[in-house]
Amino acid sequence: MNNPGVGIAITGSGSATPAQAVANQALSTIVDTSDEWIADRTGIKSRHLASSGESLTELAAAAARSAIAAAGMTPADIDMIILATSTADDLFGSASAIQGRLGASKAVAFDLTAACSGFLFAMVTAAQFIRTGVYQNVVVIGADILSRWVDWSDRTTCVLFGDGAGAVVMQASMEGDRLLSFYLASDGTQNDCLQLPFGFQPHELLPQVSIAQGTYHPITMKGREVYRFAVSKVPEVIEKSLFRANLTTDQIDWLLLHQANQRILDAVADRLHIPSAKVLSNLAHYGNTSAASIPLALDEAVRSGKIQPGHIIAASGFGAGLTWGAAIFQWG
Ligand code: COA
Repeated sequence: MNNPGVGIAITGSGSATPAQAVANQALSTIVDTSDEWIADRTGIKSRHLASSGESLTELAAAAARSAIAAAGMTPADIDMIILATSTADDLFGSASAIQGRLGASKAVAFDLTAACSGFLFAMVTAAQFIRTGVYQNVVVIGADILSRWVDWSDRTTCVLFGDGAGAVVMQASMEGDRLLSFYLASDGTQNDCLQLPFGFQPHELLPQVSIAQGTYHPITMKGREVYRFAVSKVPEVIEKSLFRANLTTDQIDWLLLHQANQRILDAVADRLHIPSAKVLSNLAHYGNTSAASIPLALDEAVRSGKIQPGHIIAASGFGAGLTWGAAIFQWG
């Protein structure tokens, strides 16, 4: 039940990263790796890691506050907050704590988990509420502190990830719909390629009543499988989205991919015949920040003046689940 005439405008962005930056060289004192190996295989040179004094709620709220200000609004104007994260401070959800911290008193707030696709899935979710006319002003946040769940003795994964938060404001617009198309997908048969699993010990609570108690275990990943998945599925889903938007690849101003690995960015751009000058990349400084990576790169590109109002952006997220998706939107 779309409300005819109500479109989406994406009107502000913001981001926040932890204060500590850790270069590749420093990681080589923890595990058997080198700056050369990491930079060559991934493009990553440094990442920001949250200290025990920094919380996901705080980072996400800072990103949201900055996005709301950039949209020329105040927290009191916000109707809904969606927090995409896999690393909430509280397993019951951190979105409400963010709502409280912002003073967004009329906003309903909830978490959404779809790993590195989370921000994209949250944007599309927000769009449904706006298009039906239910809400006008929605803040979508992607934030993750994966450093909490990385095995810092596993060189195959620990060099890849970093922490951060990014956010956008999506508003109802009567002047056209600037979310031009989207396409989302999941394949749970490949769930074991990338996991942050709950590990437990059976506990005999009562005679014949057994429960499972434990905690989450560090990230496990089948790197090559994930790489192959990304370079085959991401171009496909972008092409499907472009088809739905009645656009061709040469009409895209910017390719904004989940910042997982420079090789993945290059391979996807290559398959789509998109020149590297149109590919946004900041993973040298941040590594893979999971749900934060797309809005973080978006915000940097907006603030540096690369992305201008009216520019067409093809964004794609992919990751654990497995999940992946794309959205084509026009900035501003
Ligand atoms: N430093 C040095 N050597 C390392 C290393 C590190 N940090 N990590 C792995 N190696 C070693 C391996 O042990 C292996 O050594 P071996 O040949 O003696 O067994 C060698 O490097 C090659 O490992 P391999 O896993 O085959 O490398 P790769 O070329 O596939 O690159 C990734 C590994 C992780 C960079 C790559 O598979 C990748 O980018 N995958 C996608 C990961 C991703 O983006 N995940 C998140 C998605 S949201």
